[in-house]
This record gives sequence, structure tokens and C-alpha cells, in this order.
Amino acid sequence: MLRVENLNSWYGASHVLQDIGLEVNKGEIVCLIGRNGAGKTTTLKSIIGLLDKTSGSVTFKGKEVLGQPAHVRFALGLAYVPEERRIVQGLTVRENLRLGLVASPDKKDEVRRIAQIAEIFPRLAERLDQEAVTMSGGEQQMLAIARAMIAKPDLIMLDEPSEGIMPVLVDEMFELFRRMKSEGTTVLLVEQNVELALDIADRAYVLDQGSVVHHATAAALLANDEIKERYCSV
Ligand SMILES: Nc1ncnc2c1ncn2[C@@H]1O[C@H](COP(=O)(O)OP(=O)(O)OP(=O)(O)O)[C@@H](O)[C@H]1O
Ligand SMILES: [Mg+2]
Repeated sequence: MLRVENLNSWYGASHVLQDIGLEVNKGEIVCLIGRNGAGKTTTLKSIIGLLDKTSGSVTFKGKEVLGQPAHVRFALGLAYVPEERRIVQGLTVRENLRLGLVASPDKKDEVRRIAQIAEIFPRLAERLDQEAVTMSGGEQQMLAIARAMIAKPDLIMLDEPSEGIMPVLVDEMFELFRRMKSEGTTVLLVEQNVELALDIADRAYVLDQGSVVHHATAAALLANDEIKERYCSV
């Protein structure tokens, strides 16, 4: 579904990613791990198209997308939930969800899709008419994920979705990722919570100083204390 080859990215003159290569197959949960500053966020931003200077290749569903604007990649079915959640102030939960449906002008379809997503996210179902920014951080993160999911993307990329969220909601969120996977959504997940992430992932790539230094099945990595200690402790 997604193939990244020889991806190099720069912030100004600073060469942050060096020859990143990774693949995400349809139906997989693939995890990207590594210490602070390893280049995880930059990798996701490069894949969705938010970096000015990149080279190499990013193919999504067989199409080269590097050099295409982010909205084109989004229209192809690639979704991205950034670390900062970008919940829109002054809008209710329902109105925020509608923003995920910009491509669907059909009002009936809109009502149906919001009902479907509310069923998957019971916490949001109870709060559809609440102003979104008055919800807890964890609930806002759920909303950011729901807003990306409502467009039915083929691949969703999530940047540290569990950050700053209380454990009970984190468990709920990871349960949701399992459900997304069982319903056929492909996931590329950046997580500091390595054990939890590897528990639901199929495979993982370890980044260090802007390069992929290791990749393995999630089960193999879970059992590899040396790699975890060397590259994953925060
Ligand atoms: N806007 C920017 N301008 C210049 N350098 C940046 C910018 N954003 C990130 N960097 C640098 O790029 C490198 C990779 O950062 P990135 O945010 O991708 O790391 P990360 O793995 O997501 O880290 P964290 O776990 O802290 O989120 C770091 O050295 C960082 O300082
Ligand atoms: Mg980051």
C-alpha cells in the first residue's frame, strides 16, 4: 500500500532524514519507534507532504506522490493525525467531524457517516453537540482520530496518539486500533509507548538520527531487549 524508498528530507539546510526505506502492506499495523529527535514525525510529515524539501520516492497504492501537495495525497486515501490535534475552537464535536467530510457534499451521507463514526467512538456519541475544546485531552485525541477515519482512508498515520492521555483512555484507543485493523484499515503508528504499540503491531521500524537502523516483526522486537534499550528508551 505504501512504499518509501531513499527518502531524504531537509529543514532548511539541516538534512534530517537519510535514505529512509519502509513498507506498509494492506491491513497491517506498522509501528515507527525511536528516541526523541530520531525523525519519526518528520517521516510522517514527508509521507503526507508537509515538508518543503524532500527527495527519493513515496508510492501510495502504486502512485508516486512525492512532490504532490498534501491535499492530493489525502484525496488518494492517505490520512494523518498530527501530534497537535488541531481541534477547531468554537465548533462542536459534530461540526469538527463534518470537517473530515469535505469531499462529501451529500447531506444524507453526512448524517449516516457521523452516526457510523459515533457508534465506533461512544465517548464522542455522547458529546456530539458539546464544544469540542471543552472535552478532555484524550477525548479530543479521539475526535482527531474520528475526524480522520470518517473519510474512510485506506491508510491512517498517527503521531503519538497516546501522549498525555490517561491510561484508561489509552487502553480504549488501542482497542480501537485493533478494531480499525480488523475492519481493514491500514495503520502507520508512531508511539513512545513501545510495549503497548508492539503488542498490536505486525511489524516495526526503528529510527535513529534520521535513518532506519532496524526492522523486524513486532514479536521479534518485543523480545529484543538490546535494541529496545539502545534505541527506544526516552
Ligand atoms: N521545523 C523544524 N526545523 C528544524 N529542525 C527541525 C524541525 N522539526 C524537527 N527538526 C529536527 O529534526 C529532527 C527530527 O525531528 P522529529 O520531530 O522528526 O523527531 P521525532 O522522532 O518525531 O521526535 P519526538 O519523539 O521528540 O517527537 C530533530 O533533530 C529536530 O530537532
Ligand atoms: Mg515526533
